[in-house]
Amino acid sequence: MIELKDISKTFQTKEGEVKAVNNVNLTVNSGEVYGIVGFSGAGKSTLVRMLNGLEMPTSGEVLIDGTRIDTLSGEKLRDQRKKIGMIFQHFNLLWSRTVLENIMFPMELSGISKAERVKKAQNLADLVGLGDRVHSYPAQLSGGQKQRVGIARALANDPDILISDEATSALDPQTTDEVLDLLEHINQQMNLTIIIITHEMHVIRRLADSVAVMEDGKLIEKGPVSTVFTDPQEELTKRFVNSEVDKSQTPDIKQITADLIKKYPQGKIVSLKFHGDQVKLPIVTEMIREFPNVTMSILEGSIHQIGDRQSAIGTLFVQLLGEPKDIEGALDFLNKMRVETKVINNG
Ligand SMILES: Nc1ncnc2c1ncn2[C@@H]1O[C@H](COP(=O)(O)OP(=O)(O)OP(=O)(O)O)[C@@H](O)[C@H]1O
Ligand SMILES: [Mg+2]
Repeated sequence: MIELKDISKTFQTKEGEVKAVNNVNLTVNSGEVYGIVGFSGAGKSTLVRMLNGLEMPTSGEVLIDGTRIDTLSGEKLRDQRKKIGMIFQHFNLLWSRTVLENIMFPMELSGISKAERVKKAQNLADLVGLGDRVHSYPAQLSGGQKQRVGIARALANDPDILISDEATSALDPQTTDEVLDLLEHINQQMNLTIIIITHEMHVIRRLADSVAVMEDGKLIEKGPVSTVFTDPQEELTKRFVNSEVDKSQTPDIKQITADLIKKYPQGKIVSLKFHGDQVKLPIVTEMIREFPNVTMSILEGSIHQIGDRQSAIGTLFVQLLGEPKDIEGALDFLNKMRVETKVINNG
């Protein structure tokens, strides 16, 4: 278990003090995937660098499985660091070394024999799907393959914790998915705690159990992904959550609704947003039963599973035809069921 207690980090710069991290409290359970999101400069990297003593807090305590990290130094700190693997956006590989040598690198100081190191590195290369590329150099690999080397290297000392600092930010969507699959596999197989910093909410939705949102050094919101995605409290969290939902929405709603407005000028076009448990309820069926004179056509729709997969966000774009008072009644009914309705065209 990782515990950050009232952690602050202030840097002294020529321009004055920078409060990079400001009174942060955070607990990450063992085996959990914890996402940290926030804009550039929010303090995400500084926060996680205090986990392995790459930065020491100005105040507060960092505990890993009950051991204070922020007071360690020398060999004890070096030993502690081995328990934490890290992967980065720009891979940080050694360009003059082969895949195998890169993976072996962290083991060089750990006192195991060369034969043992080679064997272990080969196993890790197999694990990340690069078993047949061990003699290649990083420059000969694709971005996704380079990150796989980064992951294998991060696992070399059998860490308990893996920190991913924007590790998929430089990759295309397909490669990102492959790397996320690999991280999910590792999390489950090795019971590794993973902390994943990203500005991409789909990475959080896909992988994380819990998420924290950082702004100006502060943790402004945190909780299970299912809760934060379905019921975000803070403005910034809403922006992050919505940016993700909007992006994964159907391609061209504007075009589709424009076409439909042309085709059915008399219809009301409405978007219905479902949150959490509502997705599983027969709300639409009930609405149709209660308002039989309202005809509803579904134009577009999408449901996103989130977090523990017990929960979801869904949006339906529908066209409602019928008497205005019936339509009003139907919309009232939906609002009462806590479905967010938004009229896109009045017909
Ligand atoms: N060594 C340092 N010396 C001075 N200021 C620093 C140092 N490291 C970070 N900062 C400042 O602390 C703040 C937080 O930086 P940090 O790198 O933690 O942000 P971040 O959320 O990781 O951003 P990004 O998404 O761009 O990586 C920034 O204002 C940054 O300029
Ligand atoms: Mg950063």
